[in-house]
Amino acid sequence: MISVKHLFMCLTAGGHPVTILNNVSLEIPEKQMVAIVGPSGSGKSTLLGLIAGLDKPTAGSILLDGVEITRLAENDMARYRRQKIGYIFQSFHLIPTLTALENVAVPLELNGDLNAKTRAAELLWAVGLVDRLDHYPVQLSGGEQQRVAVARAFSCRPPILLADEPTGNLDTTTGHQVIDLLLSLNRDQGSTLVLVTHDPALASNAERIVTLRDGRIESDQPQ
Ligand SMILES: Nc1ncnc2c1ncn2[C@@H]1O[C@H](COP(=O)(O)OP(=O)(O)O)[C@@H](O)[C@H]1O
Ligand SMILES: [Mg+2]
Repeated sequence: MISVKHLFMCLTAGGHPVTILNNVSLEIPEKQMVAIVGPSGSGKSTLLGLIAGLDKPTAGSILLDGVEITRLAENDMARYRRQKIGYIFQSFHLIPTLTALENVAVPLELNGDLNAKTRAAELLWAVGLVDRLDHYPVQLSGGEQQRVAVARAFSCRPPILLADEPTGNLDTTTGHQVIDLLLSLNRDQGSTLVLVTHDPALASNAERIVTLRDGRIESDQPQ
């Protein structure tokens, strides 16, 4: 269960205070698939990053399975994130000096998995990249890089998966392949999935659509 209560994110930009998230409260039950939509600049990435503990809010509470992550020290948060959260970025964020296999193995190794490389190879097989294990990110297409990133996000079987515009840098066909993959892996694993997207077709896969506007929840509807 993800429980966000009265979340505020305020920054100063050019000497002016800016409220990026303005009293956002949201409960996402275990295993739900929710899409977060809204215009560019409405605070979607900020909200997702806070749920992942990548940043601290100005005020408010974020409970992940009862753990108040806003109070965790940075190293505890890093460990918690490694074990509980998979994150997929729009721009892939693979480590350029590591092969596809090594990129997927990193979180497993950090979590002490003695069979990290074997499990990473299995995951790359599952995402259709078994013949790309030794390729570096630069040698892979955008769609292939995102499939590596999907494999990496699932590697430690996280109960929570967060994806920020995962098809935003891909053409339509490749984007659909990546999303089909993401959804089918998620069906097998049963993670809670929070998906930020501009794409109505993608959002229509979700059980629930939350719309942000100007840092507030404008609507929250099951479908
Ligand atoms: N570090 C920052 N400093 C100042 N403003 C920021 C920062 N990060 C995001 N913003 C602003 O916050 C707003 C929301 O950003 P973001 O969460 O990235 O929106 P979205 O993902 O919905 O496009 C935007 O107006 C953006 O310019
Ligand atoms: Mg964004």
